[in-house]
Amino acid sequence: MENPSFLHPQYESLSRAEIEALQTERLQKTLQQCMKSPFYRKRFEENHISPRDIRSLGDMSKIPFTTKQDLRDNYPFGLSTVPLSEVVRLHSSSGTTGKPTVILHTKRDIEQWADAVARCLYMVGLRPGDVFQNTSGYGMFTGGLGFQYGAERLGLLTVPAAAGNTKRQIKFITDFGTTAIHAIPSYAGRLYEVMSEMGIDPRRDTRLKTLVIGAEPHSEEQRRRIETMLGVKAYNSFGMSEMCGPGVAFECPEQNGMHIWEDYYIVEIVDPVTLEPVPDGEVGELVLTTVNREAMPLLRYRTRDLTRILPGDCPCGRHHKRLDRMKGRSDDMMILKGVNIFPIQIETILMQFPELGNEYLITLTNEDANDLMTVEVELKEFSDDYPKLQALTKEITRQLKDEILVTPQVRLVPKGSIPVTDGKAVRVRDLRKTLI
Ligand code: COA
Ligand code: AMP
Ligand code: ZN
Repeated sequence: MENPSFLHPQYESLSRAEIEALQTERLQKTLQQCMKSPFYRKRFEENHISPRDIRSLGDMSKIPFTTKQDLRDNYPFGLSTVPLSEVVRLHSSSGTTGKPTVILHTKRDIEQWADAVARCLYMVGLRPGDVFQNTSGYGMFTGGLGFQYGAERLGLLTVPAAAGNTKRQIKFITDFGTTAIHAIPSYAGRLYEVMSEMGIDPRRDTRLKTLVIGAEPHSEEQRRRIETMLGVKAYNSFGMSEMCGPGVAFECPEQNGMHIWEDYYIVEIVDPVTLEPVPDGEVGELVLTTVNREAMPLLRYRTRDLTRILPGDCPCGRHHKRLDRMKGRSDDMMILKGVNIFPIQIETILMQFPELGNEYLITLTNEDANDLMTVEVELKEFSDDYPKLQALTKEITRQLKDEILVTPQVRLVPKGSIPVTDGKAVRVRDLRKTLI
């Protein structure tokens, strides 16, 4: 691990004892920092605890959890621990219904985030001279600026291609000699499909060797197929906006789980029902505490992602724990085309239309490596005024796209045609298959 000094190799190569000592020290600092936020001051007072009660990592369980709802309730700046004049970046979740969430960063936070992403890219062999093309949406999607800053930090020639326009992406890949791409797994399939249509063989006609895939769950089988199609090695990358974005956990060349950078995060896996910790090797909900953040540290944040810590050492020699690939969520969030969507966002829009009844069904499918959301919704009353129905469909689609950022296919159906099962209504069917 002869990394350049700006990647802090001393942290990457820590022993378990050194990791825990560093975390204990950084947790103390973080707790002090948290007391500058009205939210955490109140939370600690209500729970009759003080930072002094947390002396070791064994005391973590005394700290109350932080949830997405806490972020929403304290929107926009309630969790800030620095004056706004020190905040240089804000990322926010999508959505116009309800309250979004906001994540704040100081200049140091942005630098530390870039270092973490650069560390990941270096770990899988990328070096100055490599051409890194990022197909993530930019703007509020942290996969955009997150990888941009990290790749630039490492000195890669970075192409901010952003999402969409697949033919143009492929032109960039061939013209600029792109060697590494960041894409969500389903979009990697789309890239291959369009390359085939254009008569381009990725192995013969491109310099591609590395793919960074993340942002949505995928199987080992899917990864291997993508690798074979594109002639690359594909590394799983995990991150989330609340933890900065990408750079939280990343696979090393062994491709056997994602090392979570424990100089940045304390990781716990808890039973999503009892919220009690589960032993390494057992699946539960991932809970993360940031220990290297200034503007908005988060304590015991319930990510809602289900995974497990892989027991044992990694042959690469790094002692940072490894997360297994994500197994799903403990809430009803869907991920479509790399965009996070909650059914309630869709319901809120639908219920604003007086022409619509109460029943609706969201179906997720994929055809030709394209994910699709179909929203069937019942009409309150029968109508055969087709121009009016067409205009209504168009307007619902437009409002849904504004809200969830992807374009659904909307189908108006007669009242009573959406089956209502006994008990809890089934609102979402995920029929997506591994196509590639
Ligand atoms: N990344 C890159 N491009 C994507 C994509 C993704 N996740 N999902 C779809 N696309 C491409 C499509 O292939 C299409 O291009 P093409 O027809 O030239 O092949 C184009 O984007 C538009 O897709 P479409 O499905 O018609 O549009 P939409 O309105 O439903 O979705 C997007 C719009 C793609 C812009 C929106 O889903 C998006 O921004 N996704 C990216 C999210 C992201 O970056 N997440 C990562 C966070 S780390
Ligand atoms: P966002 O905050 O938009 O970056 O979305 C974060 C969420 O995306 C996580 O909480 C996960 O549910 C999902 N996600 C991110 N990376 C991965 C990955 N490698 N595998 C599976 N899901 C992922
Ligand atoms: Zn390893």
